[in-house]
Amino acid sequence: MPSYLETAMEIARESGALLSKYFERRVSFELKGEYDLVTEADRASERLVVDRLLTYFPAHSIVAEEGGGRQGSSEYCWYVDPLDGTTNFAHGFPVFNVTLALERAGELVAGCIYDPTREEMFAAELGVGAFLNNRRIRVSKVGKLEETLVATGFPSRRRHQNLNVHFYYQMGMLTHGVRRAGSAALDLAYVASGRLDAFWEFGLNPWDMAAGVLLVREAGGQVTDMLGQPASLRGPHILADNGLVHQGMLGLFGEVFSGHARVPLPEVSPAQR
Ligand code: IPD
Ligand code: CA
Ligand code: CA
Repeated sequence: MPSYLETAMEIARESGALLSKYFERRVSFELKGEYDLVTEADRASERLVVDRLLTYFPAHSIVAEEGGGRQGSSEYCWYVDPLDGTTNFAHGFPVFNVTLALERAGELVAGCIYDPTREEMFAAELGVGAFLNNRRIRVSKVGKLEETLVATGFPSRRRHQNLNVHFYYQMGMLTHGVRRAGSAALDLAYVASGRLDAFWEFGLNPWDMAAGVLLVREAGGQVTDMLGQPASLRGPHILADNGLVHQGMLGLFGEVFSGHARVPLPEVSPAQR
């Protein structure tokens, strides 16, 4: 009998093929909120994933972004983001994925993130490890904040209230660079595989990060919130990294939270206008 993870990967591949078809022919979008996009591809992918999960695991609960989930009767719960990176997708920017993760009694036990553009399947199982296309992956060994390549994201909801630009600026000045590619799940998968050294974001939902959190942990990395408290899928923010730069990032973030700018914002002089 296939494992939960094998079944999740099979479903993610099927959904990824569906997303690729929609991507090739370009789809229009609707707005769920002021800047929060949704497309027919999000909905079609979610129908497919939820249908398959209900066929294989009729007693499991499913929490899915577009509302197609349901309350089950067992201790198992799936988190489904049928299309992570919708804004990219709607603009033809090829960075998106489908991601599924499974929790048993509140503990993440399996998860996968499938990027159909690069045919990359990131997968993790509790206590077994993290893998990219079946090959073991591990976090990077970069220990100095100044030598990191990091990533973040900005929410599409209530973004005018978001503080992240302060963190973004400090990290942009103090590291090799900050990427904002538009897919939180892939950002986490890239931390797990050592392509990035750290990722942080405010206001993510459980379906954005469940699989990625397990991947980073199983790849030897560290995940907490941005104050160093235990990570929660329902918490206000998340910090995931290779473990070696964790304290350095928490130190910097602590300064920003308390209103101190290690690198002050530049003044705009009349001559620069
Ligand atoms: C979004 C992406 C993005 C992140 C947003 C998420 P969606 O997910 O992961 O990178 O910055 O916070 O909402 O809406 O494309 O599934
Ligand atoms: Ca998402
Ligand atoms: Ca989504």
